[in-house]
Order: sequence, then structure tokens, then C-alpha cells
Amino acid sequence: MSYSFAFLAHFIAVAVAFGAAVCDMVINRVFWRLLEVSPPKAEALAPLMTTVGSMAAIGGLGTLGSGFALLASVQFAHWGARWLSLKLLLFVFLTANGLLFAKSRKHKVTLLMSRWSPGEAVQPAAGRAHSEATGGEVLDELRRIESSLRLFHRTQLGAFVLVFVLAVFKLE
Ligand code: HEM
Repeated sequence: MSYSFAFLAHFIAVAVAFGAAVCDMVINRVFWRLLEVSPPKAEALAPLMTTVGSMAAIGGLGTLGSGFALLASVQFAHWGARWLSLKLLLFVFLTANGLLFAKSRKHKVTLLMSRWSPGEAVQPAAGRAHSEATGGEVLDELRRIESSLRLFHRTQLGAFVLVFVLAVFKLE
């Protein structure tokens, strides 16, 4: 594969991954705001969090594939360069942060939203006969997830900025 073609693919994949990260942040902001004023609207928005997560995963896979295609097109001449090692490290961080930290929490938000009825006792989930969770408890749990997802978005954006800085200044 030629360098230019791989570069174009890398550019598109990075745009998809970064775009998904930004969309995710915006959706989250809107979601947590709606939770206070209109819970049904927030609930409708919850599945979108998972959708942008999948978009980020596709972008991430494309970034990795096109990144290696770029390297292969120059016979791995950059292999061992400090900027590349740092970039790979940040890429691993971005992937782990999304898959291990955020994915389960977003899934939990969707689950909690389907159980939450503000001001009322939450219906026991199937198989859990005597759940005593109340709407307030579910809301507390959601708020805890909100702060960890906020941390996720900050670190994710920070890592992206570092990769972009690295791409410009290289640090040979
Ligand atoms: C968050 C992930 C990534 C982002 C945001 C990103 C961003 C960029 C950007 C903006 C460029 C163009 C600037 C430049 O020429 O250096 C670039 C080039 C490049 N990227 Fe990535 N990249 C990412 C992941 C990767 C990965 C995982 C690899 C390797 C497997 C990789 C390998 C490369 C290579 C080889 C170049 C061309 C460098 C050159 O020829 O000067 N990138 N990347």
C-alpha cells in the first residue's frame, strides 16, 4: 500500500475516532443535564452513548490498521522512534480507557435508566425478588457514574491532545 493511501486512511480513521470521542462528550453533557429536567428524554439518549462507543471502536481499529500500513509503506523505518513508542502507549491507554473503564459504566447507565422511575420505588429486576432500590438510590448511582465518566472524557481528550502534539513535534 502506498504511503499516501495509508496516510489518507489514517487521517480518516483518526477523524472518526476523535469525532466519536467529541460526540460522546457532548452527548454525555446533554444527557446529565436532561436527567434533571426531563428523565424520559435522557433515557431516550442513553443508547446513543453505546452507539458512539462502537463508532470510536471502529475508528480505533482503523487508526491502528492504517498506522501499521503507514509503517509498512516505509519499511518500518520509524520503528523504535520515541514519538512512535509514546504514540503506541497513548493508543493503548485510549483503548483500555474506553473498553475497560467506560464501556461497562455506559452499559450500567442504560440499565439504570430503564429501571429508574423518579420518586417511585424501582421495580425489582427479574430474578431479584426483594430489591429495595428506590428512585433516589438509582439517581445516586447514576451521579456516581457521571463523575467517573467525566474523568473518562477528560483523560481521553487529554490523551488525544498529547497524540496530536506528538504528531506535530515528533520528539525524535
Ligand atoms: C489516537 C491515535 C492516533 C492519532 C490521533 C494519530 C494521529 C496522527 C497524525 C495527526 C498524523 C500526521 C502527522 C504526522 O505526519 O506525524 C499521524 C501520522 C502517523 N501515524 Fe498516527 N495517530 C494515531 C495512532 C497511530 C498508531 C496506533 C500508529 C501505529 C501503529 C500510528 C502511526 C503513524 C505513522 C507511521 C504516521 C506517519 C508519520 C510520518 O511519516 O511522519 N498512528 N498520526
